[in-house]
Amino acid sequence: MDLKQHIRTVPDFPKPGIEFYDISTLLAHPRAWRACVRRLADAVDDMQPDVLVGIESRGFLTAAPLALELGLGFVMVRKKGKLPGEVVHYEYGLEYGTDTIEIQKDAIESGQRIVILDDLLATGGTLAASAALCKQMGGDVRGAVCIIELTDLKGRDKINIPFTSLLKYE
Ligand code: PRP
Ligand code: MG
Repeated sequence: MDLKQHIRTVPDFPKPGIEFYDISTLLAHPRAWRACVRRLADAVDDMQPDVLVGIESRGFLTAAPLALELGLGFVMVRKKGKLPGEVVHYEYGLEYGTDTIEIQKDAIESGQRIVILDDLLATGGTLAASAALCKQMGGDVRGAVCIIELTDLKGRDKINIPFTSLLKYE
């Protein structure tokens, strides 16, 4: 199954000059999505996690079926102000300004082996921040897996953890 043929590329979104890699068309095609989940599951399984972490929002779509497939718990990393109860947050720099992500304080136990999931790796900023947050909570971050990697942006070098992607675009 050629998964790339199920990824829609949209030029000039969300800004002029940016090419958007849209997984909606992959999600809409059950056979392709099933094939994608199986390949992700193999990559994740190799890292032997105890728990999966998904990054809001497209990382939720990526992580949730894998947690079921592999029989693992699923923890959400969310944008600021969305999670109830005690949370731990992490602020990170963007091109202009900063952003903050959060996780619930009791979501990860010290020493738990974690694999982080997202749909796409671009600059690596989001994934690097999520990994730092998980480590700050005492998690043993085994690695990260994404469907898509934009290789020219060299996000892989920034995140500093084992990383696997299924589909590479320059
Ligand atoms: C996109 C994508 C990744 C992130 C990658 O999410 O889903 O999470 O950007 O970019 P980076 O590697 O440069 O950090 P976005 O912030 O657009 O939000 P969404 O998942 O809620 O659509
Ligand atoms: Mg995202």
